[in-house]
Amino acid sequence: MVAAKDFDRSIDDVGNILCMEHVNVTVPDQTLATYFYVNGLGFTRDPYIDFGPFNVWINVGSQQFHLPTKEPQVLRGHTGVVVADLDALEKRLTSVSSRLKDTKFAFSRNRESISVTCPWGNQIKCYAPGKFGNMKLGIPYVEFDVPVGTCPGITRFYEKVFNCTTTLRKKSCEINVGRGQTLRFRESKKKVDYDGHHIAIYVVNFSEPHSYLKKKNLITEESDAHQYRFLTIIDPKSGKKLFDIEHEVRSLHHPMYERFLVNRNASQTFFNYQQGRDAFVP
Ligand SMILES: [Fe+2]
Repeated sequence: MVAAKDFDRSIDDVGNILCMEHVNVTVPDQTLATYFYVNGLGFTRDPYIDFGPFNVWINVGSQQFHLPTKEPQVLRGHTGVVVADLDALEKRLTSVSSRLKDTKFAFSRNRESISVTCPWGNQIKCYAPGKFGNMKLGIPYVEFDVPVGTCPGITRFYEKVFNCTTTLRKKSCEINVGRGQTLRFRESKKKVDYDGHHIAIYVVNFSEPHSYLKKKNLITEESDAHQYRFLTIIDPKSGKKLFDIEHEVRSLHHPMYERFLVNRNASQTFFNYQQGRDAFVP
């Protein structure tokens, strides 16, 4: 007989949000944007849904950046990504530097990550595989700068509305999403106006959050049968508005749920080409 062991079964609990699927920031120039996200960061332009000059979807493992053409939006905080190889990333970023020199593009390497600024100021922090479960390529978290004193209410919101498990620290909090992703919030004195960038999440129970948000008059768009949007995070205890970040909320019946995303091996070039190694293999 196997000896009884004490397992903390709650560690494997998953709340109502199964995944954060994309981060949407508008960009004014698709040529520069694809040069940055594809050639610089090494990600893959979605080959199947191609909007041409009006929008580009960039695949990063099982997540995406959506980049519609418009005045630039800048996420208030930063997006964490996992890439296959930091040394190779540093080489690619160096190689795109001269063409992006008249933009906000910049990068710096730290002990465990490379912090990158996109041509319009979005902050992206790139990690090697290993820090976020078994994610080898993807977006493990998005971190938002939020007003001082709002983190306790933000955790209450995701616990109450989305049944998420959360971690509350002194000036920050983390909301657990699916297997190994988080939404992070960090209190900051920075005051930046919200420009409309958004994130998309998939939820198991679609109607309960909708009922709550509708009752509080927080639904901003009834997109279609499988998607709605809300903008404002409130404290369920006081009703106080805490932070605006548009969430595109999708059900598991949304046609794009678990859509297969193509990812390439970013190390393949004309000069070092290896047969059969075109696809990213985790
Ligand atoms: Fe979206």
